[in-house]
Amino acid sequence: MIYDTVLAKSFSRYEQKKLGYGAFVSCLFIVFSLCTVFKPYLGPVHVLNLKLFIGVDTKMLITGSSSQIGKVKENKAKVVVEDTGSSPQMDKNKVERKETEKEELLCTSEERTEFCQARGDIRVQGKSSTVYIASSKATMLEKNMSWSLKPYARRDDAGAMTSVREWTLKVVNVNQKVPQCTQNHSIPAVVFSTGGYTGNHFHEFTDILIPLFLTARQFNGKVQFIITNKRPWWISKHESLLKKLSHYEIMDIDEDDEVHCFPRVNVGLKRHHKELSIDPQKHSYSMKDFRAFLRSSYALKRLEAIKIINGQHRKPRLMILSRKRSRSFINTDEIEKMAKSFGFDVIVMEAGRSMWGFAHVVNSCDVLLGVHGAGLTNILFLPENAVFIQVVPYALEWLATNDFGMPSKDMNIKYLEYKISLEESTLVEQYPVDHMFMKDPSVIGKMGWQEFKSVYLDKQNIKLDVDRFKPTLQRALELLNK
Ligand SMILES: *[C@@H]1O[C@H](CO)[C@@H](O)[C@H](O)[C@H]1NC(C)=O
Ligand SMILES: *[C@@H]1O[C@H](CO)[C@@H](O)[C@H](O)[C@H]1NC(C)=O
Repeated sequence: MIYDTVLAKSFSRYEQKKLGYGAFVSCLFIVFSLCTVFKPYLGPVHVLNLKLFIGVDTKMLITGSSSQIGKVKENKAKVVVEDTGSSPQMDKNKVERKETEKEELLCTSEERTEFCQARGDIRVQGKSSTVYIASSKATMLEKNMSWSLKPYARRDDAGAMTSVREWTLKVVNVNQKVPQCTQNHSIPAVVFSTGGYTGNHFHEFTDILIPLFLTARQFNGKVQFIITNKRPWWISKHESLLKKLSHYEIMDIDEDDEVHCFPRVNVGLKRHHKELSIDPQKHSYSMKDFRAFLRSSYALKRLEAIKIINGQHRKPRLMILSRKRSRSFINTDEIEKMAKSFGFDVIVMEAGRSMWGFAHVVNSCDVLLGVHGAGLTNILFLPENAVFIQVVPYALEWLATNDFGMPSKDMNIKYLEYKISLEESTLVEQYPVDHMFMKDPSVIGKMGWQEFKSVYLDKQNIKLDVDRFKPTLQRALELLNK
């Protein structure tokens, strides 16, 4: 019964011996330097898994390892406590009784997320941000088992994680000092944070909404969402999606005095290591399912983009996604005129806070053209076989490809990338041509994230060379014909 625990422990010891503290310290150092120096290049290239497991009297290192490009390393710790004894006073709760027959805590630690799944007599206490797994058999464990994590799916990004509250899951004996339930719930719960990078549209989808779909869709709405670091505007912004995933009112847990009991809880969210993606081989869903879910949540009507055939009445519609602060087109009128000459019905729009309205406009388009930026996340609402043209500013190739280029392939959207020439960037007006910032972008790898961001993301606007761009637009028309 307790062997799984013992296994988990000996695994820890083995890893500890193998690695030693010297290696541990150097791993920490690597993590630190990667985060500060190469932040935008972390992604799937550098995989570092580091997890401290804190037992009662020992500090155990479960693993610290780096693996190759694209490889996903997982670490799991599992505690299973069988509970076969029956207590007569619990007979009236037959349904719940069944659920508690097997108590389980399973924590998974991956390169980009960490999540725990627990079953049994689960007690959630907001004030202490603790989830207790009360077990009558817990005396058999020589030591208390616990696991701490931050329930936001971007664990490799220190900048995001600083604003995320840490939660602890503890297996404790039911007779020990474990808080009594003040509210009983019969459905499972999912605990997640809306801290991190919320406020950025891209991060709201890649770090929260897609992971939440992956974690909670299986419950068919019969699940309680528990939010830590609650941001009320975020909940209203994504209300349509949240209501579809959970039919219960969202619980704001951080200041909650109650002890909420559940038969099952997930703390943290599952996610794929790639942005805006779902791995259909690992989960029973794909991005196709997520897009279908978006269509049904927002009642989006168009499933397929237009097929240009002779006698078609409607012109294909192209959206120029504009931006205000940086990476904006400074010759939008010229681009619009040129796109119209290609036979497009052109609309120019900036992404707004009203998800419902914007999702509908994007869904009405066949081509979306925009400069790299969070607004491009709206490609999620494009119909199948639509064309997405990403304009890539100087030095942003890596971000452009990883954030939107690769993800769009799994969305059944046709992707075109237009890399601007240096002359099309307003950086030429700000720096002399021989300035370090204008040189081979490989030097950029040596820049800190803040400096990189302040130059290439924040100071760059685009004056699209319409003649140079024409073949790309021609190609978009051809793709719609296919
Ligand atoms: C286990 O944890 C509980 C609550 O955190 C504490 O009261 C108890 O003393 C611990 N048990 C052991 C054996 O350390
Ligand atoms: C919750 O359920 C437990 C076990 O079934 C029971 O002992 C307790 O009184 C219930 N608490 C409330 C507040 O209903």
